[in-house]
Amino acid sequence: MRIILLGPPGAGKGTQAQNLIRDYGLVQLSTGDMLRAAVKSGSEIGKQAKAVIDSGALVSDEIVIGYVRNRIAQPDCANGYMLDGFPRNLTQAKKLDEMLASQNEQIDKVVELCVNDAALVARIAGRRFHMASGRSYHIEFNPPKIEGKDDETGEPLVQREDDKEDTVEFRLNTYHEQTSPLVEYYGEKGVLGSVDGMGTPDEIYSRIKEALAE
Ligand code: AP5
Ligand code: MG
Repeated sequence: MRIILLGPPGAGKGTQAQNLIRDYGLVQLSTGDMLRAAVKSGSEIGKQAKAVIDSGALVSDEIVIGYVRNRIAQPDCANGYMLDGFPRNLTQAKKLDEMLASQNEQIDKVVELCVNDAALVARIAGRRFHMASGRSYHIEFNPPKIEGKDDETGEPLVQREDDKEDTVEFRLNTYHEQTSPLVEYYGEKGVLGSVDGMGTPDEIYSRIKEALAE
């Protein structure tokens, strides 16, 4: 199964990806996590990407498409994967289709998480993040077992640099302008499953499972 998790910043893509890893054995390919790892490594790409991420704009298509191209060719992706945060505009979506078509593959399902902007802002404001794994928590809505620590590793949780209020607004605009056209793109292909992303994480996960079973 090859799926795409589509939704605005804070919609719960990363949160729900953890459930899908556990129950479906899918590999999570988050371009945001890949870029943050590049920033942390101090590489040239990472240095360029940091300024763009912190502004809330999109990193160049060339860089993220390169990451995805390399990643989906790895053996652990042979049985399927879920893309989290990619594609993010029509250029990326068309390029992904081309890459898959050349291997006689296609996307089986695009799960769109629908959440209103006010809820997104509240979710992002309280988010705490485990950088190494990409796991996210919320101080109120989804707290870790021990305050400030990752459940699996016990390592400290941090706030993401791009979760500042001004940047969040810009990220939401970027989503509405550049990413939301993908809803129509995948709708026309007949692979879109739009899920109500309001409610508890468990409620939303049940809806995702229903959408995947359709
Ligand atoms: P990326 O890392 O992809 O961030 P994003 O899309 O903005 O999404 P988030 O990770 O912020 O949200 P999420 O949907 O994963 O929500 P989460 O589960 O954490 O991208 C970051 C940047 O990298 C981009 O701005 C761009 O610059 C660059 N980039 C990445 N990919 C790119 C690409 N393809 N092309 C170009 N540039 C790219 O949940 C959020 C919070 O809500 C958490 O605190 C969580 O605990 C809480 N929560 C989750 N579910 C619920 C619920 N049901 N109720 C209440 N709270 C909840
Ligand atoms: Mg995420």
